[in-house]
Amino acid sequence: MEHTRIKDLLKSEEFGKEVIVKGWVRTFRNNQFIAINDGSTINNIQAVVDFENTADEILKRITTGAAVRVKGTLVESQGKGQRVEVKTTEVSIIGDSDPEKYPLQPKKHSLEFLREIAHLRFRTGTFNAVFKVRNALAFAVHKFFNERDFVYMHTPIITGSDAEGAGEMFQVTTLDLNNPPRTESGAIDFKEDFFGKATNLTVSGQLEGELAAMAFGNIYTFGPTFRAENSNTTRHLAEFWMIEPEMAFYELEDNMDLAEDLLKYVIRYALDTCPEEIEFLKNRLLEEEKSKPQAERSELNLVEKLNFVIGNDFERVTYTEAVEILQKSKPNQKKQFKYLIEGWGADLQSEHERYLVEKHFKKPVILTDYPREIKSFYMKQNPVDAEGRNTVRAMDILFPGIGEMVGGSQREENLEKLITRMGEVGIPTEEMEWFLDTRRFGSVPHSGFGVGFERLVLFTTGMTNIRDVIPFPRTPNNAEF
Ligand code: 4AD
Ligand code: MG
Repeated sequence: MEHTRIKDLLKSEEFGKEVIVKGWVRTFRNNQFIAINDGSTINNIQAVVDFENTADEILKRITTGAAVRVKGTLVESQGKGQRVEVKTTEVSIIGDSDPEKYPLQPKKHSLEFLREIAHLRFRTGTFNAVFKVRNALAFAVHKFFNERDFVYMHTPIITGSDAEGAGEMFQVTTLDLNNPPRTESGAIDFKEDFFGKATNLTVSGQLEGELAAMAFGNIYTFGPTFRAENSNTTRHLAEFWMIEPEMAFYELEDNMDLAEDLLKYVIRYALDTCPEEIEFLKNRLLEEEKSKPQAERSELNLVEKLNFVIGNDFERVTYTEAVEILQKSKPNQKKQFKYLIEGWGADLQSEHERYLVEKHFKKPVILTDYPREIKSFYMKQNPVDAEGRNTVRAMDILFPGIGEMVGGSQREENLEKLITRMGEVGIPTEEMEWFLDTRRFGSVPHSGFGVGFERLVLFTTGMTNIRDVIPFPRTPNNAEF
């Protein structure tokens, strides 16, 4: 490689050395100063052009967005804001960029505008920082589990099962749906499909993960999952990445400990390995918050917030305790909650979750033992309580500004109880014999959870819209490339 990465040059002390830089022009000022970025860092290197000895034909092609090669000497910079620069002896254009047509101007663009040109937004400082942090978090997930001897298990994307039983699936078929084969009753006959049955994109790798955990002990999956929920929020994607560990012989408490350790570990790893990016994102957020009224601004900056989370225990409370807190809360007494907590049994709305996390406990909260009726069929049932209520050994981890970061549970290992529950919620057992076999042959207590990876990236980067933390967001009306 003849060129040096800008990241390394910016740290270099080798003044007087001849260097070659390759990258894209961010700005070109006074026919003299090129700010070049090659993606290795958020920061640009300044190349000072000897314009008197450079052909006009070249000078006018040094435009924002153009790819250039610059040869010169690394020198100490006289200017403010940078330590080193390149005193250029030779500039050449690798790829032109028409300045009239290039959408990224050398100014601050709104995130909304950048979302419309998602194919070019990688070239901005903000997205450089966000996707570097995303990369660090992904790497840290693998590091965490591999240090603990968990086996990374690839679960299928195309599957015949609805892991959550929530019916939010994208169908996958090779049939011509304008003219599909039909059974005698008129239903689409998937027997003629390539897969021979109705299939869909996976909503979760959990059930397949359970099969592997019953052999390897501890496994994890980390891959794309899909939800055909038509919700246009800043927290939902139709395609998102999920981390799903599954552990044999783990009870709910072990599950909570592991989830808390994982979240702290990966956030610490991002802080340790991406200090520049997180500092940049901290300042971006401070800038963004200036437009908000004082009362709505966060008390802690991004770095303080991340350090607070990794330095403190998460609060562990049961659903029942949470409902009592909410019922006694000021907003509820003053009827400020849009959905009042009417009583035990209702699902918590995001405003309730936010109240618990942001106003009451002021830290991440692990909510456990939810009502059975609002959770998935596979969760382990608690004994009926004194009030005759049915709960399950569920745990959701709620984060400030995010809401639900993790959903998990201890699993029902008792075959009869599981079959009964499936019957109650209308899940046909004959299609799930493979899953039930885990409870037939050497069933053991086991647990697992799912972390929404984009929600983790949202929290760690201080971004506020989930579309801005995945390279190619899939949301309603958003699947061009
Ligand atoms: O709570 P969920 O639906 O749980 C499961 O899928 C379980 N099978 C996990 C397990 O126990 N192995 O989803 C888990 C997490 C949520 O807490 C949330 O962070 C994220 O996945 N999530 C989404 N993230 C972005 N967009 C969506 N539409 C999401 N739906 C869930
Ligand atoms: Mg959930």
